[in-house]
Amino acid sequence: MNAYVGTPTSRVDGRAKVTGAAKYAGEFPADGLVHGFIVEATIPRGRIARLDTSAALKVNGVLDVLTHANRPPLAGNDEAWKDEVAPEKGSPFRPLYDDTIKFSGQPIALVVAEDWETAKFAATLVRVEYKPSSFATDLEGERSSAAEMDKPLKPRGNAAAALARAAVRHEADYVIPTEHHNPMELFATTAVWDGGGKLTVYDKTQGVQNVHKFLCAVFGKKPDDIRVVSPYVGGAFGSGLRPQHQVVLATLAALALKRSVRVVLTRQQMYGLGYRPMTIERVGLGAKSDGTLDAVTHEAIAITSRYEDFARNDTGWAEQLYKSPNSRFSHKLVHLDVATPCDMRAPGAASGVCALECAMDELAVALKLDPIELRLNCYSDRDQSENLPYTSKQLRECYARGAEAFGWSRRNPAPRSMHDNHELVGWGMATGVWEALQMPVAVRIALTSNGHAEVSCAASDIGTGTYTVVAQVAADALGLPIENISVRLADSTLPQAPVEGGSWMAASSAHAVLAAAEEVRKELLSLAGKMPGSPLANAELADTVLIDGNIAGISDHSRAVSIADAMRHGNIERIAKEKLNHFDEDKKHARNTHSAVFAEVKIDEQLGVIRVTRIVSAVAAGRILNTKTGRSQIMGGVVWGIGMALHEETVMDHRFGRIMNANIAEYHIPVNADVHDIDVIFVDEPDAHINKLGVKGLGEIGIVGVPAAIANAVYHATGKRIRRFPITLDKLL
Ligand code: MOS
Repeated sequence: MNAYVGTPTSRVDGRAKVTGAAKYAGEFPADGLVHGFIVEATIPRGRIARLDTSAALKVNGVLDVLTHANRPPLAGNDEAWKDEVAPEKGSPFRPLYDDTIKFSGQPIALVVAEDWETAKFAATLVRVEYKPSSFATDLEGERSSAAEMDKPLKPRGNAAAALARAAVRHEADYVIPTEHHNPMELFATTAVWDGGGKLTVYDKTQGVQNVHKFLCAVFGKKPDDIRVVSPYVGGAFGSGLRPQHQVVLATLAALALKRSVRVVLTRQQMYGLGYRPMTIERVGLGAKSDGTLDAVTHEAIAITSRYEDFARNDTGWAEQLYKSPNSRFSHKLVHLDVATPCDMRAPGAASGVCALECAMDELAVALKLDPIELRLNCYSDRDQSENLPYTSKQLRECYARGAEAFGWSRRNPAPRSMHDNHELVGWGMATGVWEALQMPVAVRIALTSNGHAEVSCAASDIGTGTYTVVAQVAADALGLPIENISVRLADSTLPQAPVEGGSWMAASSAHAVLAAAEEVRKELLSLAGKMPGSPLANAELADTVLIDGNIAGISDHSRAVSIADAMRHGNIERIAKEKLNHFDEDKKHARNTHSAVFAEVKIDEQLGVIRVTRIVSAVAAGRILNTKTGRSQIMGGVVWGIGMALHEETVMDHRFGRIMNANIAEYHIPVNADVHDIDVIFVDEPDAHINKLGVKGLGEIGIVGVPAAIANAVYHATGKRIRRFPITLDKLL
């Protein structure tokens, strides 16, 4: 029954991707297609005094220049612009809405031309005069204006008193800079004019139905007027959760010109979208002399825009992870003249846990304890915040298996004690934690009598392997070879799915497949049971299974009727069933994934060059649906964690309120030469509570803990504690 689930099945979309057969949003052809290029604001705050498009309009091949002054109608109410991902307090940004400038890089005009080069050139001829206002973009400069979020998190005991009396205390600020996603695929939309005001919109997005609803609301369209399609996404990591500027602009231009329009952002323009917000994470830890925690405090101070309160869960991990009778948490926002931040892989956790786990390392040093021992001293089988047991939690096993694979017992705890020729060697570790969320998803299965099934759902595959896990689960549930399953995803007309994010799609889509397959089995049983002399004449649904192209008795597979016979007898060619799956979640459990990350760094002391020579990540995430794509997910997260620790930083020139390294030459990310050994261990974690398959999801856990493990290794190698990320060589010298 489990021929595919739990195996290292290769991607079913792999061939299409490597041969170029897979089409991305900016690649779909259309008759008479024209191209839009965005003109961006060069000041962070003020108004447009004059926008002169005459020179641009004179260029041969330019069809129109859209601005706030001449655009077609856009919804005037905030509600229309709020999508399922971003119910943040405030007023979402609306491109080309009025003359207000809210951030540098804001789109203020769209030049539409016969070809992209012409549009790009003509965009340079648009003349803008501004009425600038005073502005601020520096979080540290504005720290004193930080305002507490509406909902302060609930304290336990008296953290201030416990910190004051602690035998050993550690308190420090950890600074995480703003970071941008930089997916390989550029943000793009091809809005195809289908006539009569109807559009097919190919968009780079993590949620086609989210974009569909958004476009209908923003442009006052009926659901049938717009179809949103996004079969392949070349990475998004959260940047494609909210509908982005390009989809509004391409749709706007298509409606204005009544023809098909493509808008592709440049790499530089993608820095005008969302980002991981810069945060100052202040963590305080107090320990008793026996090496147990007595106080935990975590205050996050984060950037947001002036028009929306974007905040994610930075401090909740410190709230739930370790046993401590006293704790206090707060999340503060500083409103600046920047675009609103957005989700970026493990939003909140990547930053918050980084600070927490660096602080735990510092406390372990102060206590003269092994960092794993400190974590075991305050290990909790219950979510400390909710006081609930977990559906499963094998973090203890992660520490043990990770330490074993890494060789942790050979570590000399003294900083600067380990060497490899001219390099200092450092070993560090950290804990990772993320949520195991699941959402309602519907799936349709159309089974034909030749034993082929089409499985369809509006969910996206953002590169995470949704096509593959859906095919695996369907093949097992229908008892068919995986080659007989075709999967259709990411079309707004397909059955309901939320955005793909939050690490919820594997569990959510898998169980929707199971639910739809059960409907198919029900129908097959009713057909098979009616056949003369049927071996399944009195069989109950629960006693049957689909296997090897048959419907059969669950304990006796020889009591069987083939799918082909059952359907032939019923005189049907096709069984099509759709089912929406809801998870029946109790409120008596906490649902999380965990990891233990071990890092080795080698540092050239003269040059300050840091190499991350080894990472071991031991992950507990329930049952792993696909050990091959799952491993790749974790490796991707680990590589990103290396970037977060050592490379990534969006640099703002606060004199101009403008990003200075809006390109991947100067915004550094790990390259092949930065990536050495990565060992991924999936710890066995049976889970009878979370869902039928015991699946949790792996999208985000891979990055969490990695930056802290590396920072702790850097300390161990050098004796220098760097609390301002990224740890670049200038900070070590
Ligand atoms: Mo993820 S940041 O929910 O795409």
